[in-house]
Amino acid sequence: MKKRLKKVGIALFLVLIAIQFYQPALNQSSGQDYTNDFLITTKAPKNISKLIQTSCYDCHSNNTKYLWYDYIQPARMLVEAHISNGKKELNFNEFGSYSNRKQQSKLEAIGKQTKSGDMPLKSYTLLHHDAVLNETQRQEIIHWINSIQENSSSSVN
Ligand code: HEC
Repeated sequence: MKKRLKKVGIALFLVLIAIQFYQPALNQSSGQDYTNDFLITTKAPKNISKLIQTSCYDCHSNNTKYLWYDYIQPARMLVEAHISNGKKELNFNEFGSYSNRKQQSKLEAIGKQTKSGDMPLKSYTLLHHDAVLNETQRQEIIHWINSIQENSSSSVN
């Protein structure tokens, strides 16, 4: 029995080593063009920029700031899945290239996700404490989103 357990242990250990070699391409773009970036096009104030960059950009932009443990499998696979699904829904770097209609619906969704506390994802904030938003910070973001929604709905576009 003991011998069998030891074998299982060794097998698991070897699998853990083997999956470390699977390192998909990093979500990083060195020559990122910021002309369509959400924070630039909406002229977001500094405090808002900082909050959204810290709490949202790792999964919703073309540049993720990886931490050392993000490189360790199986965490790496999880991180990449979050990034690819997150970017599909919303890419802040490309926000300005969305149609007006899509921008409006995304603004609505950003407000909702921030208010409900569903974003940033809990599985992420568990290890990325600086991305946690407190109630005041949530309100700041929601307030900002509301203000640009009103502005753009009154403009003919
Ligand atoms: C750990 C990665 C991660 C972080 C950080 C993150 N998101 Fe997300 N986000 C996702 C994923 C993955 C989805 C895809 C759907 C889902 O899982 O809910 C998503 C979906 C969304 C959607 C839904 C889009 C739609 O049209 O319905 C919005 C809006 C959103 N995120 C906003 C935010 C905001 C705002 C922040 C920061 C406060 C943030 N996210 C931080 C991963 C992340």
